[in-house]
Amino acid sequence: MTRKLFVTTALPYANAPFHVGHMMEYIQADIWVRFQRMCGHEVHFVCADDAHGAPIMIAAEKSGQTPQAFVAGIAAGRQRYLDGFHIGFDNWHSTDGPENHELAQDIYRALRKQGLIAERTIEQFYDPVKGMFLPDRYIKGECPKCGTKDQYGDNCENCGAVYSPTDLKHPYSTLTGATPVLKNSDHYFFQLSSQRCIDFLKEWTTTPGRLQLEVLNKIKEWFATDEHGHVGLNDWDISRDAPYFGIEIPDAPGPYFYVWLDAPVGYLASLKNHFTKIGGDFDAFIADPAVEQIHFIGKDIVTFHTLFWPAMLHFSGRKVPNQIYVHGFLQVSGEKMSKSRGTGISPLKYLELGMNAEWMRYYIAAKLNSHVEDIDFNPDDFIARVNSDLVGKYINIASRAATFVTKHFDGKLAYSGDIAALQESARASASSVAESLDGREYAKALRDIMAIADRINEAFDAAQPWAMAKQPERHAELQDLCSRTLHGFKLMSVVLAPVLPELTSKVARQLFGLDRVFVWSDAAELPMHIAPYEHLMQRVDAKQLDALLVPPVIELLPPGGEAIAPEIKVDDFAKIDLRIAKIVECARVEGSTKLLRLTLDVGEGKTRNVFSGIQSAYEPAQLVGKFTVMVANLAPRKMKFGLSEGMVLAASSGDEKADPGLYILEPWPGAKAGMRVR
Ligand code: 2FM
Ligand code: ZN
Repeated sequence: MTRKLFVTTALPYANAPFHVGHMMEYIQADIWVRFQRMCGHEVHFVCADDAHGAPIMIAAEKSGQTPQAFVAGIAAGRQRYLDGFHIGFDNWHSTDGPENHELAQDIYRALRKQGLIAERTIEQFYDPVKGMFLPDRYIKGECPKCGTKDQYGDNCENCGAVYSPTDLKHPYSTLTGATPVLKNSDHYFFQLSSQRCIDFLKEWTTTPGRLQLEVLNKIKEWFATDEHGHVGLNDWDISRDAPYFGIEIPDAPGPYFYVWLDAPVGYLASLKNHFTKIGGDFDAFIADPAVEQIHFIGKDIVTFHTLFWPAMLHFSGRKVPNQIYVHGFLQVSGEKMSKSRGTGISPLKYLELGMNAEWMRYYIAAKLNSHVEDIDFNPDDFIARVNSDLVGKYINIASRAATFVTKHFDGKLAYSGDIAALQESARASASSVAESLDGREYAKALRDIMAIADRINEAFDAAQPWAMAKQPERHAELQDLCSRTLHGFKLMSVVLAPVLPELTSKVARQLFGLDRVFVWSDAAELPMHIAPYEHLMQRVDAKQLDALLVPPVIELLPPGGEAIAPEIKVDDFAKIDLRIAKIVECARVEGSTKLLRLTLDVGEGKTRNVFSGIQSAYEPAQLVGKFTVMVANLAPRKMKFGLSEGMVLAASSGDEKADPGLYILEPWPGAKAGMRVR
């Protein structure tokens, strides 16, 4: 029976390039998808950028772009990684696409019609300077218990106390430094705590085969009723106030869907977009009970996928997900990856170093099983698996046996003895690997394949083919041995194809002369001819891993691309009179492509004229009325365009080519013209 599969990986936030954790998830799903396709099943494998939410809106603003342009910039970088690691998504879309706006709004309307949307007024911190309600992550303050400064609103890093943002002493907005005020806002809630939802979710989560056992056990805790009789599910706040980058809530001008409401809808949106491209019927497909909808995700986003998402689908009258496949995190040498400490592995650097993407695919596969376990990238282990197993055991079989066949038999293979038994045993091996791959037991699949490699290598060596080659009367025996060995190699290549698509495509076309890539049933087909062996795969060099694992080069360079200047004394610093200046006027300087003419008020009862090379970074109108910092006691300088009576401060990279940005300084609100900066 042909399966119809709709497979996704989690939609990555469009605020940063991929890290190796993303690649691990994509590799896991890609192997599974390739395996299913090799078996003849119909698969639609899609993903998209998760474009919405406050962090992306703020990052876009900081970079001086619209959120749409910012997200498009991130999206433009995606394909390099996907192609580089041979990830074969059928479609890559965006949650800001029109399909998602429409689907998310449809689903919401259906939920409202079901009476599952409630409106409630909540009290929330608001940044009066920014004019924006503050997500918790943008609020810091002093721990209410131990007084440690600069703590987030959920718990204290110092004493471990747990509290809510409103408990913080002297809270401030990390966006502007302003003291947030509590303000009321009307929000929409999805009533997950309703009996209907709870009944449905209990049934959905406990349907056999739907969730991994460890995931189900965790979920049961969430359902548990506490000592006060409070059932563990709360209603889910699905709205966010403007300004927000997201999808507008229909019939309620103002608020937007919380990013996590429209993110999983993005799975459907990407599929729909894909169907438009290939001319398929999205509505029929997505409603087809025979379709299996499968989401690969990491362990950090289980609640969204096992509670919110199935409930959204079910109560909007749609088909629910069939399986959620949860994986753990990828660590590097036993440590959690951290960008700030420069640990972790950059996928692009991996590729730029000329490292083979299929080493990584093989290594990751060798570590993965169907459980929610963290896996560790260990460089020595990586070298051992790639060099000893992949190249040493598997690839070498081909080069050794093929050499005899080319030299003595002109590429022809011939088998004596029980051919049916040979095929039967190949079929059995392939179907056992198939079971492991289908069940995401990749580590077991590769162990079993390497065990086959060991058996073939042992039999080959024990038969001493080099001795046979010297005795013409034993050449039939040699041909049989090499043929069986090469059939073994073909069998292994077929079952490794989901993991090593590029390598095995070469094997299929180059060595075995097929005009296509392998399909699963090729495993038992005896090859009758081979082409002369051509080099298939290099070993990994330990130096490559050393290069890969050194902290990013950027951390080795001086900060900002420029070494810190020689030490000075505090008196040296005091000689520089820095003042807050108000920009009262600003204009382009005729005849100069670099300069802006600033008219500055430093509280002297008169203004000053200053030329500044910031034309490339600012429109004059942007600066008028703003405060900045200037060197007020710099000797006036006569320039071609007039006298410059000081200098305004701006940040720039020491490496202008790498980062041409110029950023003028701006004091926090409250600073007045003429105040000294010290
Ligand atoms: O955790 C994340 O990276 C989210 N962007 C995942 C979203 S998955 C799906 F729901 F869109
Ligand atoms: Zn504390």
